[in-house]
Amino acid sequence: MTIRKDVTVAAATVASVVVMGWLSLVVMGNPMLHKVGGSKGWINHDVNYTQWSAQQHVYVGDWLLFKFDKRYFNVLEVNETSYENCIDRDFISNVTRGGRDVVQMTEARTYYYLSGGGYCFHGMKVAVNVQQLPAMAPAPSSMAVSSSLLPSLMCSCIWTILVNVLCFLNLVFIDGF
Ligand SMILES: *[C@@H]1O[C@H](CO)[C@@H](O)[C@H](O)[C@H]1NC(C)=O
Ligand SMILES: *[C@@H]1O[C@H](CO)[C@@H](O)[C@H](O)[C@H]1NC(C)=O
Ligand SMILES: *[C@@H]1O[C@H](CO)[C@@H](O)[C@H](O)[C@H]1NC(C)=O
Repeated sequence: MTIRKDVTVAAATVASVVVMGWLSLVVMGNPMLHKVGGSKGWINHDVNYTQWSAQQHVYVGDWLLFKFDKRYFNVLEVNETSYENCIDRDFISNVTRGGRDVVQMTEARTYYYLSGGGYCFHGMKVAVNVQQLPAMAPAPSSMAVSSSLLPSLMCSCIWTILVNVLCFLNLVFIDGF
């Protein structure tokens, strides 16, 4: 009796661990929003954006959020040379809108941003290395499809895993007896 109860508890535990692992894989495929500079945002002096960037895992489809005081700062995408030398002329694109501005990473490459007005020289520049999504996770473009399929997939998947785990443990239990 106690053995059977233990087996049931073990089965439930294993099943939930498996399901949680599977769910986290699905979540990994979701686009993430990265707030540049963390809680301080896009600001003069106070943040080392090289260090911030080194701690991020940014994938294609993810977004960057720049939060800043638009009276002083802006956000311009530039090339590597302009990034290194803080050149704010002839930039690639201007991300600046209201001061809580987002931009999506659409390619696996390094994106370079800086603030004009001389603030780049005070460290307001960031290089963001964008990686291809891991092969397992769904690509951003298939997001709409996979989210509509998700509930039914989830149900059948959880059932399959549960049934398999229960059968497996039951076999082990009978064998061991
Ligand atoms: C920011 O951090 C990097 C890496 O730790 C370091 O090399 C660099 O000198 C720092 N920059 C500033 C402006 O302190
Ligand atoms: C980078 O951009 C600057 C300013 O537009 C331009 O003069 C330079 O030729 C560009 N460098 C490269 C390697 O594209
Ligand atoms: C960037 O765009 C903002 C908002 O449209 C505008 O106010 C600003 O002048 C632009 N900055 C540059 C350097 O073009």
